Amino acid sequence: MADRKYNMVSIIRKKREGNSLTKEEIQYLIQSYTSDQIPDYQMSAFLMASFLNGLNSDEAASLTHSMLHSGIIVDLSHVSGKKVDKHSTGGVGDKLSLILAPIVASCGVPVPMISGRGLGHSGGTLDKLESIPGFTVDITLDRYKEIIKKHNLVLAGQTEEIAPADKRLYALRDVTATVESIPLIAGSIMSKKLAEGIDALVLDVKFGSGAFMKNIEDAKELAQTLVSIGEQFGKETIAYLTNMNQPLGHAIGNWLEVKESIDCLKGNGPDDVMEITHLLAGTMIYLGAKAGSIAEGIEMSREAIENGSAFQKWIDIVEEHGGDIRVIKNPDQYPKVKFRVDVPSPGSGMITKMDTYAMGMISLELGAGRRSKEDDIDPQAGIMLHKKIGELVERDETFATLYTNKEESIDDAVQNLQAAIELADKMQNPLKSITHRVDKEGIHEYQ
Ligand code: URA
Repeated sequence: MADRKYNMVSIIRKKREGNSLTKEEIQYLIQSYTSDQIPDYQMSAFLMASFLNGLNSDEAASLTHSMLHSGIIVDLSHVSGKKVDKHSTGGVGDKLSLILAPIVASCGVPVPMISGRGLGHSGGTLDKLESIPGFTVDITLDRYKEIIKKHNLVLAGQTEEIAPADKRLYALRDVTATVESIPLIAGSIMSKKLAEGIDALVLDVKFGSGAFMKNIEDAKELAQTLVSIGEQFGKETIAYLTNMNQPLGHAIGNWLEVKESIDCLKGNGPDDVMEITHLLAGTMIYLGAKAGSIAEGIEMSREAIENGSAFQKWIDIVEEHGGDIRVIKNPDQYPKVKFRVDVPSPGSGMITKMDTYAMGMISLELGAGRRSKEDDIDPQAGIMLHKKIGELVERDETFATLYTNKEESIDDAVQNLQAAIELADKMQNPLKSITHRVDKEGIHEYQ
């Protein structure tokens, strides 16, 4: 039964007028919505009022608290050591989880990783993992606990028990134009992460054309909100601001990214991917108390790649989740895509800009993403970039290759990809991959 002390219309009005809600009002809202006592139209009105008038830090923390407690908090006390996870706010070509999770686990820090699916232009870890034949991310809570105990690592999807309020609210935000709100995003992310049973968290907050936060100021605000919520819940939280003005690495698309991750784990990864991977992994190793500083954690991360222990951990975890390790050991055995099309450069010069959002959408149209929740993903589809920002190309030189099984998507993809790069004589300002660290002490420029 809905608590008669509260009235949904009054709560919506209060937020509409720009006033702050109490912890109890927010709790009523989330509990009643999750138990079907508040209809979608009233929750939509509340979401829009919150989107327009914002939520202060106490309200954001109360929202996170109520969403977290709409489900269970996984008890991982049977696993020794500090458990640390990483979350990214989403980007294009972002395969970092696949690389850093086995690195960190192989350094002795348990990583309970619950990931999501691709959202619009941005890819999702679960879709990438499922591109490995046989790999299953839909596991029970008991199995989740068993796998992390055995391997210091588990890679799973969100279950019904984990922050069910977020699942419903996210679906509603998606269709009411209320996704891009900093406190709503923060509540959504943190309620899921806190439910995993972690002790500490590293956040990769992306900004730029391929990120949800297009400008760095919004990304800073999101990072501060996320860190402040994490700390309020007693979890050490460190965030980095990273640049999404070009895709990460060369591969965009599910299997293509798994393949690039294998290269990374074997020590042959692209510099931009490895720089961020080692920083995030090093920070996780430090927060997991296996290194005395972030710098020492970074050293351990590099060592785990060099001595092969991270790659061995990756093989073990793929096998545990039912994945076919033959294609991990020998990626050339993966089934071949029907169409591979080289894309010629529309001019000569230096690539100075990439429309990363457009590249994510082109990859989606080639089959790598979903237009609606029901769409199937084509694991083979995507784009390989042979040139990145700061590199020179000649007219008609191949700067990218498309991979698809949808012949009808090819012509548009070629044209759109050519339109997604800008060429000039030289770059004004080189791109910096990592710009800031945000922790409980504040924002620090990253050197
Ligand atoms: N990722 C989430 O989990 N939630 C949001 O609201 C946005 C991105």
